[in-house]
Amino acid sequence: MIEPHLFVIYGGTGDLSRRKLLPSMYQNMVDSGISDRSVLLGVSSRDLDDNGYRDFARKALSEAGIDNAGPWCDERVYFQRVGRHEGLGGVADKIAAIETTHRLPGNRVFYLALPPNAFPPVITALSKAGLNQSAGWTRVVIEKPFGHDLPSAQALNNLVHRHFDESQIYRIDHYLGKETVRNLLAFRFANMLFESSWNRDRIDAIEITVAETLGIGSRAAYYDQAGVIRDMLQNHLTQLLALVAMEAPHSFDPEAIRDSKVQLLNAVRHIDLDELTLGQYGTGRLNGDTMPGYRDEPEVRDDSTTPTYASLRIDIDNWRWQGVPFYLRTGKRMPAKSSRIVIRFRPPPICLFHGKRDKCVEHQNSIKLILQPNEGFEVSFDVKTPGDALRLVEKQLRFMYADEFDSLPDAYQTLLFDIIQGDQTLFVRADEVEASWRLYDPVIEAAANGHPLLTYAAGTWGPSGRHTPIQSAAGPIRGEVRTSPQAPATDPQPDGEDR
Ligand code: BG6
Repeated sequence: MIEPHLFVIYGGTGDLSRRKLLPSMYQNMVDSGISDRSVLLGVSSRDLDDNGYRDFARKALSEAGIDNAGPWCDERVYFQRVGRHEGLGGVADKIAAIETTHRLPGNRVFYLALPPNAFPPVITALSKAGLNQSAGWTRVVIEKPFGHDLPSAQALNNLVHRHFDESQIYRIDHYLGKETVRNLLAFRFANMLFESSWNRDRIDAIEITVAETLGIGSRAAYYDQAGVIRDMLQNHLTQLLALVAMEAPHSFDPEAIRDSKVQLLNAVRHIDLDELTLGQYGTGRLNGDTMPGYRDEPEVRDDSTTPTYASLRIDIDNWRWQGVPFYLRTGKRMPAKSSRIVIRFRPPPICLFHGKRDKCVEHQNSIKLILQPNEGFEVSFDVKTPGDALRLVEKQLRFMYADEFDSLPDAYQTLLFDIIQGDQTLFVRADEVEASWRLYDPVIEAAANGHPLLTYAAGTWGPSGRHTPIQSAAGPIRGEVRTSPQAPATDPQPDGEDR
């Protein structure tokens, strides 16, 4: 049940608001016929008034394919300008006026769609203006990355907790809103078929891969500081790891699920830096076009050593996963967009086929959880080819969302809906974000202190690392497990505001 509320987007004219937040709000409210429950207030330093922002919102919605949003924008959308370094007194006054006009009971969301360095001053300013509490509920949504290492995340948690209770805080990671990621819980805990083999006795290795074709666009100011470890690994891929490997929660209560995730993260062994491969894309060709190298992207330093690709191995020291390697890999400017988790099962203990009694590696069943695109999953197994003597071929059983369901909701739409319902299940808790930074601080330090940075051409699958190359999970998956060559000795080249 959605209670009437005011949804404030601080950073209301930024890219995230334009592409994701405004369309998601509209879809949640208008498409479900409850637009009378929500009023939206955009806040930013742009010189706009209510009407100017309504034009901005209309344009954003029309870019998202929504063309009949005029009435919603005119009736439910407002704007307040706040100069940089200004207090939020003006916002507080505007909120009071809107709540009177629309008879709202004081339920408020503050979505901070801002660059990370703006979080501390804005949180303090919200509190100073008395906006951390109200007659109704108050929730604050903080985008990733939450901090830039463990000490800064702890400091940010301390600051936020001085002004807000943890139950008011929604640390957002949009991967958790993806339908296929949410389905991991159902896949594992509603299906005994899979869960009974989800352990070291049956599983040989798990690969988590997020490959992107995108470069960094116009985000150099943010990305060159963050790099792939802070931008993707510490949050998105680690959340996938937690969901795929955690123990069953005792209930589907948000705290029970988050407890299980934290417990898993705390069981991860110190990451072995010998297993870490870092890369940065150089010039290359993608879909027929020549792409600039990372250092030639606008506003990136010529000598930047920021990694855009990382692969590493994670070991989990608990009863279920002891000895099972988890390979996490992600990179920008790859030949195809592909996010997937591949579960590789152990081969049979003795090979009864093809006359090779000992080497059975080719008979490795796998489950491919395809998170995007072409969402679904695929189970691979061996079949005897009919007629022939005993000859085996690998075949798949597939489930594709597109074959069974009309469409999948956008991740932000799902998460915004949860925020206004007060459901924190898909948001990252304070101890969880710290547990995750604890894992990656040594990796970040190594990256900053001369860990080899390999160059890969844009449009390729990244440098070869110590373990499985990225294409084994992103493309055809048979046969390449852990046989990739070491990175060639000539390759290392170590020198080589609104979201
Ligand atoms: C964002 C990162 O959080 O996720 C981007 O900042 C990345 O660099 C994006 O491109 C990937 O999201 P998706 O949903 O396209 O896989």
